[in-house]
Amino acid sequence: MTSEGQGGAPVFDGKVIVITGAGSGVGRASALAFAACGAHVVCADVNNAWAEETARQVLGAGGTALGQLCDVTKEDDVVEAIRVAVDTFGRLDIMFNNAGVATPRPGMGLVDHTFEDWERLVAINLRGVFFGMKHSVAQFRRQGGGGVIVNTGSVAGIVGWGGTVYGATKGGVNQMTKAVAIECAAEDIRVNAICPAGMPFTNFMAPAAAEGSTGVDRAVGDAVAQMHPLGRPITAEDCAAAAMFLASDEARNITGVLLPIDGGYVAR
Ligand SMILES: NC(=O)c1ccc[n+]([C@@H]2O[C@H](COP(=O)([O-])OP(=O)(O)OC[C@H]3O[C@@H](n4cnc5c(N)ncnc54)[C@H](O)[C@@H]3O)[C@@H](O)[C@H]2O)c1
Repeated sequence: MTSEGQGGAPVFDGKVIVITGAGSGVGRASALAFAACGAHVVCADVNNAWAEETARQVLGAGGTALGQLCDVTKEDDVVEAIRVAVDTFGRLDIMFNNAGVATPRPGMGLVDHTFEDWERLVAINLRGVFFGMKHSVAQFRRQGGGGVIVNTGSVAGIVGWGGTVYGATKGGVNQMTKAVAIECAAEDIRVNAICPAGMPFTNFMAPAAAEGSTGVDRAVGDAVAQMHPLGRPITAEDCAAAAMFLASDEARNITGVLLPIDGGYVAR
């Protein structure tokens, strides 16, 4: 049951969620936030140490979670992450297809992209979400229907900004979100996407930052924030809160939505 709890936060008591890309940024913030509201979380990530660290942080905060090595480009890994959720916690209620990677070199143009850049971005950002949606829908059907999928798209999939190839993968995520929402609506499977704008303080932009740092420095972060009408840096926690709303019963009549977490960026 996911009604509203104390303080207005959604309640996910005993709900089971798989989060991909849970080792960092939006995925880690979401694991902590869902678990704090009672969810049992499978923290799936290609970086096993980071996945385990997220699970450790959830457990340390009194929540329920486990780390799971999962490369979303590999169908067997995605199947296994869902199987572990079902075997350990009894079922799957929510699939959060969040894993994604950035354009390899910030600001690079179309002709700078190599074939390998294309293959990597499509494999992780698009194929990974295809596998996550396909196998969560199959699991929801085995359970008799009902279920929630949240995908992480991007404003780069809505407007022509953020890199051509990256934007194409996120446009694909946005389109699959709407298509599967329509296909599965009669089964009460809801499918929505959060669409963040530039978030400077996750590891996503780390290639632009100093070696060993997390995210970009404060000055660059403030510059990114200035691109948004609201002018505040967008955080992983902002995205986690939006994902939780879309996954909750408060959003029971919301499906096929692409929700910008962008400080108004795509509105102007
Ligand atoms: N940060 C931004 O500016 C921004 C903007 C719009 C959208 N997004 C999207 O938000 C999502 C989360 O990004 P973030 O900012 O938290 O980045 P992040 O780099 O902090 O976290 C991404 C996580 O995904 C994992 N990952 C990478 N490849 C994987 C794979 N093949 N299989 C499983 N896990 C894999 C990484 O190990 C990492 O833990 C991504 O889909 C990204 O495209 C980010």
